Amino acid sequence: MRTTANDPVDAVLAVGLKDLWYPICPSEFVAERPVSLRRLGKKFVLWREANGTLHALEDHCPHRGAPLSMGIAMGDRIACGYHGVQVRFDGVVMSVPGSPGCKLEGAKATRSYHVTEACGAIFLFNASSDIAEPPPLQLPEELTSPEYSNFLCYTEWKGDYRYVLDNVMDPMHGTFLHKQSHSMAEGDNTASFGIRETDIGFIFEKEGQRDVNFDWTEWADTGLHWMRLAIPYPKTGGPGGSFYIVGSYTPIVDNIAAVFHWRCRKLTGWQKDTWRFLYRNRLEARHWNVLEQDRAVLEVMEPDANQREMLYQHDMGIVRLRRHMRNLAKEQLAKEEAAQESKSAKAA
Ligand code: FES
Ligand SMILES: [Fe+2]
Repeated sequence: MRTTANDPVDAVLAVGLKDLWYPICPSEFVAERPVSLRRLGKKFVLWREANGTLHALEDHCPHRGAPLSMGIAMGDRIACGYHGVQVRFDGVVMSVPGSPGCKLEGAKATRSYHVTEACGAIFLFNASSDIAEPPPLQLPEELTSPEYSNFLCYTEWKGDYRYVLDNVMDPMHGTFLHKQSHSMAEGDNTASFGIRETDIGFIFEKEGQRDVNFDWTEWADTGLHWMRLAIPYPKTGGPGGSFYIVGSYTPIVDNIAAVFHWRCRKLTGWQKDTWRFLYRNRLEARHWNVLEQDRAVLEVMEPDANQREMLYQHDMGIVRLRRHMRNLAKEQLAKEEAAQESKSAKAA
């Protein structure tokens, strides 16, 4: 996606804002063998200790830059495959077998990242600089409360993650793009929308229609950017009320996005078991079909499609979100500039 060529704000957004948590992959992507992942404009290596503890470093050996992911995991460290340099999970070089005692030993030479796991996904804190402790990961109640049950659905789309944000911040596409789907055939196909502020973001919602179709989207910032929406379920969907979707989206590289959707319902006991059974046997395939409709449009959007738009009232949510993201990017740039200036002042 392009907003304005050579726009520094756009460059910040293209690789994801700093100092936020991001989901980067499903938990099962990473076992004890090192795995290399491109995300957020960087390349990470992830691995686990035998007890499951997860670690993430920049996938770059401090010696000559070979990917650490080509090396061998040894518990809390990786031995680079090229010359055997051992780097611990905190980025400190523990051993240089070819030149013992050299000054690389004991140096913190590699960027390390904080990672944690929740709801089937690995989350990484995209810190702007090395920090001892990241802020806590705060997820919405659909993912943390025992009153809800969820399934993670992960996919990768060949489109900019910001088109994915636009798509979710656009409830009206449900009525048209998804009109054939089992859950989005109801309600008016004209609507007016309003924006309601919340403590953590805002809700973009249809005026006068609720719980009929895809009628609202919430955007929130709890140190992780996430979105939430609800779609009423037909009777064939089993017990329980609306179907909630919590989404969070992470840039992989330009024009490839990691798409995380947690499909949730507020159910416990036998109702939960019934839904989980029905979901696996029948509903999941239908939901993937709906998501395919989104993917099919998103992947053929030209990277500069957003340069020639004629937005109308339904797009207020998108406008609001884009503006907010640009403001966050400007704040980040201002902080980076201030840090740079104070560094130069100290050096002078
Ligand atoms: S490049 Fe990694 S040990 Fe030399
Ligand atoms: Fe959709």
